[in-house]
Amino acid sequence: MTTNDHASDTIEALFKEQRRFEPPAAFAARANAKAGIYEEAERDYLAFWSSWADKLEWSAPYRDVLEWKEPFAKWFVGGELNASVNALDRHVKAGRGSRIAFYFEGEPGDRREITYAALLADVCRFANGLRERGVKKGDRVAIYMPMIPELPVAMLACARVGAAHSVIFGGFSSDAIVDRVNDAECSTIITADQGWRRGKKVPLKDTVDVALAQTPGVERVIVAKRVGDAVEMKAGRDAWWDDVIAGQPETCEPEAMDSEDLLFLLYTSGTTAKPKGIMHTTAGYLTGVTATHDLVFDLKEDDIFWCTADIGWVTGHSYIVYGPLCNGAVSVLYEGTPDYPDKDRLWDIVERYKVTILYTAPTAIRTFMKWGVEYVQKHDLSSLRLLGSVGEPINPEAWMWYHEHIGGGRCPIVDTWWQTETGAIAIAPLPGITTTKPGSATKPFPGILADIVDEAGKSVPLGGGGYIVLRRPWPSMLRGIYGAPERYVETYWSKFEHMYLAGDGCNRDVEGDYWFMGRIDDVMNVSGHRISTTEVESALVDHPAVAEAAVVGKTDDTTGQAICCFVSLRGSNPGSPELGDELRKHVGDKLGKFTTPKYLTFTQELPKTRSGKIMRRLLRDIAEGRMLGDTTTLADSSVVAELQERAKAEAGKED
Ligand code: WTA
Repeated sequence: MTTNDHASDTIEALFKEQRRFEPPAAFAARANAKAGIYEEAERDYLAFWSSWADKLEWSAPYRDVLEWKEPFAKWFVGGELNASVNALDRHVKAGRGSRIAFYFEGEPGDRREITYAALLADVCRFANGLRERGVKKGDRVAIYMPMIPELPVAMLACARVGAAHSVIFGGFSSDAIVDRVNDAECSTIITADQGWRRGKKVPLKDTVDVALAQTPGVERVIVAKRVGDAVEMKAGRDAWWDDVIAGQPETCEPEAMDSEDLLFLLYTSGTTAKPKGIMHTTAGYLTGVTATHDLVFDLKEDDIFWCTADIGWVTGHSYIVYGPLCNGAVSVLYEGTPDYPDKDRLWDIVERYKVTILYTAPTAIRTFMKWGVEYVQKHDLSSLRLLGSVGEPINPEAWMWYHEHIGGGRCPIVDTWWQTETGAIAIAPLPGITTTKPGSATKPFPGILADIVDEAGKSVPLGGGGYIVLRRPWPSMLRGIYGAPERYVETYWSKFEHMYLAGDGCNRDVEGDYWFMGRIDDVMNVSGHRISTTEVESALVDHPAVAEAAVVGKTDDTTGQAICCFVSLRGSNPGSPELGDELRKHVGDKLGKFTTPKYLTFTQELPKTRSGKIMRRLLRDIAEGRMLGDTTTLADSSVVAELQERAKAEAGKED
């Protein structure tokens, strides 16, 4: 069943969408992607991808483009390269060392311009420090940091010495750190004293300290100083960043990595409570992000690129760090929130740095709409020439608002569909070629073979909807789930033969354009963050007062979906608003504040089938305030009427 049972309503609504936007002629005339690129890639998709791999710098050439033993891929077999060399050294060697890599803007207003040469020197010093402390090729290193320049430096330094990084989003709680660090057997954690968020200090090191009580494999912790308050430092284990780099030379021999050596792990939510460590390797990933960043964003020498995502998610990995740096782009890196000190912070940044390409998320766009256009109008956004969207389906209203108020009616919008698993953008317009439609991610990227299939795995003709699948391997595809090869096969490659199952529902119109409809599994998408219903349920049941919990996603105007919990308590406890708040906080503490449920309804009983399965479909209907579907399999039908009443009261309270 889908989290979006009424997706068919959405499809109909979307299909009434008749507006279309041709690429502006001037834009098309100088676009990176030329007409014919799709046909060319289709004629020989391996040649297409290898033409992009050939733009990378290799220390040993590859023999074969692809070795495919379904579902295990090896790309650019036999080649050797280093990701940090491709991101940095290459540009410095080409005489572009004084080019800005990042305009860093801290939330409190501090600013730093970091050139490619300076970034390379920082990476080398830190990489030397890591090596000296025993971090070596094949290790896994956890990184839990705010959005400060030391974060990409840490990632690239890991890559330089051949250690895989596992970045853990700075909003996660200590429990989430424990799971991820232990699963990946990380021996090192890199963090900061604190970070800034909406003017408040986020206690990163303290959170790591709590986690460390349960991560026996961690031998060392490196702490960057961001805020400056005192934090506990355990002698022999904890070291300050500044001490790690002290006296280190600004050069560092890069490790020659095999194309298929692990570059990073990134954990993402699945249908069980245990997050999946998605594995990305070196050459294919770099090829994918380089090609997509160049063609989808039509990157030019004088562009100022800004992706507003957090580096803790895949969007930041691919389009703040690896894609832009491999392409020698000039980017903005912003630490904070869009409403600090006021709700025009983003527009202030766009104006000041003359940002030309802005890449953000629908949930943010809907929030800006709510705040009102006056915040936008205070600033000159005429530098913008291209806009991007990622993270969830963008509704046509938000698309149009983005187009008119941020893009001034002149900027093409690229709605980019992809996943942690795909590593790089998979379905999106090429802005100089593709006619866009508000709400559609349009067409598969050249070389990507996508399809829509029905329950039986049969291709659905144009004009119909179903499961989005990818029918051939692509370079930046995940190579597996860390430590769980069976789960990799089971999750992505078992529902349909010879097809990668992305887990999204999607419609394809008669012109072949793709319209995404949300997840089909038990994963919620809240503000573009993938959160597993099971994970929230486990967090609730972990509270001593809770007997049982069921969690579903409820459509939300701003965040796409909101977390909606149904909770039955132990004993005869009827629940209270205070307990409700306590449980919400409990979830936030367990998993990270951004997972704090919006709705929480107490119930004596959860609706169950006679065999005892919780009827989530029914709970989704209740959460959405819909007419109930089939209730004949329900064990006790009186449960439902009462739940409907309570859920309605709860929704009324929250709105
Ligand atoms: C959703 C983020 C519709 C989708 C890059 C996918 C989208 C999940 C879009 C992956 C889009 C992302 N239109 N849906 N443009 N972009 N999604 O792994 O459900 O954090 O499966 O990667 O986000 O989320 P993830």
